Amino acid sequence: MTKPRVAILGTGYVGLVAAAVFADRGFTVLTSSQSLDKVETINKGKAPFYEKDLDELVAKTVKAGALKAVHGRREAILNSDIFFIAVGTPSLMSGEADLRLIKETAAAIGEALQEKETYSLVIARSTIVPGTTRNIIIPLLEKHSGKKAGVDFGVCMSPEFLRQGSAVHDTSHPDSVIVGELDMRSGDMLEDFCKQVYPDGNVPVLRMNMESAEMVKYGRNTFLAMNISYINEMSRIAEIIPGIDIYEVVKGIGADWRINPAFLNAGCGYGGSCFPKDVKALISFARLQGVEPELLESVESVNAQQAAHIVAITKQELCGALKGKRIALLGLAFKPHTDDMREAPSIKIANHLYSQEADIIAYDPKAMANARDNFIKDTIKIEYADSIETCLKDADCCIIVTEWDEFRELTAETFSRLMKQAIVIDGRRVISPSERDKLFSYRGVGLGTPKTSEKPMVIKLGRRLIQAKLINEQQLREALNEQEKRGGLIGANLIKLGFLKKEVLLDFISDQYGLSVNS
Ligand code: UDX
Repeated sequence: MTKPRVAILGTGYVGLVAAAVFADRGFTVLTSSQSLDKVETINKGKAPFYEKDLDELVAKTVKAGALKAVHGRREAILNSDIFFIAVGTPSLMSGEADLRLIKETAAAIGEALQEKETYSLVIARSTIVPGTTRNIIIPLLEKHSGKKAGVDFGVCMSPEFLRQGSAVHDTSHPDSVIVGELDMRSGDMLEDFCKQVYPDGNVPVLRMNMESAEMVKYGRNTFLAMNISYINEMSRIAEIIPGIDIYEVVKGIGADWRINPAFLNAGCGYGGSCFPKDVKALISFARLQGVEPELLESVESVNAQQAAHIVAITKQELCGALKGKRIALLGLAFKPHTDDMREAPSIKIANHLYSQEADIIAYDPKAMANARDNFIKDTIKIEYADSIETCLKDADCCIIVTEWDEFRELTAETFSRLMKQAIVIDGRRVISPSERDKLFSYRGVGLGTPKTSEKPMVIKLGRRLIQAKLINEQQLREALNEQEKRGGLIGANLIKLGFLKKEVLLDFISDQYGLSVNS
């Protein structure tokens, strides 16, 4: 089997990762970009964005002469046999996918096809709603080439399913390849190519028509987004019940062979460049077709509420107003191992906090520059810390938004030493149970509220006493322990343990709450 020469039109996550992986598997790959900067960066052996393992692979394949970036599409097409359209399809205000780049690329391929004598294959790789390849891409290819699809050139639609942060791994080891074909010859050509890329024979190739292939992509992403909204809603229910832990519940749910627990991690909601965009696009596509997509709408609204829910818990733990409270956000990227901030839950959380006049300080191992320059610009006032320690210093509360590994290693001692009060809202459940018990206060997503926090007035009084420097954290904790073991009011326990004089407490309560307390 001769190896086809490959062109990848688009150098984003999808395009460049595929280009580097195919080049690494022995193909000659040209990747085209409209940006001279990007072309230069890639040809220097670097990826223009951060993605785990990608820099190394680009460096290796560029050095070996297998991968080259070119400016403009014509050169890439004229020197290749199969071309992947891997350009972005961002959301328009209406929720529909913006097809501008798809159309431009299809027209450019059409023009170059005019000059080609040999049969070649065009593959749509971008995420596009069902019917786009047949009704938009093919007519443009035919119009600009003066040739006939299915006769002079082939067309397939083959979506990709890579996850950011593990894009190189996912593209190197896909669970399957979907081949949506215009005709058998096009499908055969793509299947042959896939067999050369994945010669071990353990990647099934599923052949279908182009519309079904387009729908598979939306099907997978909306199904996964639905799982996440489902588990976030379940976790909100679980949080009301003391002692319940949604992460334990998921182990039980997932033990049913019909249910895969992989995407049932409760958290701060889904973000990124795909789930939010694809749910929106399918909603808007369904409506245009006259179908009311009620389930998908709920998936979206549950996701939006999750950020508000995290802020509501924060407010509870801080006993009321957020105004002037210093809130440390650990994690900004929409998920770990990437600097991507697109639709990141941190933006929504920061917005809620800012609108309630909290002072926000944030730290992320990779995404701070991107957040500062492109996402959280003039709209929100936010301070950026250069380390976890600086971020936590003197904070009233910490919210863990992204599950970076370094946050998993944090101990109660670090929080207690640095923060004003070690109050932690764990939006990704990264703090180990033994550490969380030592914190002044801990709330984890999907974790039934512990008994002591069921009594906000008690905590509120305790915190106010600490703020007034009448007791310290340790003394409040001991009084709470005493209350759990033997009952009794918190004030009475503080007095019993010798931490506070009765008269001081009574004066404080009458001063703070305007109550005249009877001794
Ligand atoms: C997703 C799809 O997984 C991938 O197949 C598709 O090609 C592109 O979209 P990606 O956006 O890179 O990939 O990340 P993914 O790991 O799927 O996470 C998306 C969002 O969902 C993140 O914000 C993540 O934190 C959240 N998530 C994921 C959860 O909240 N819980 C989970 O159990 C899984």
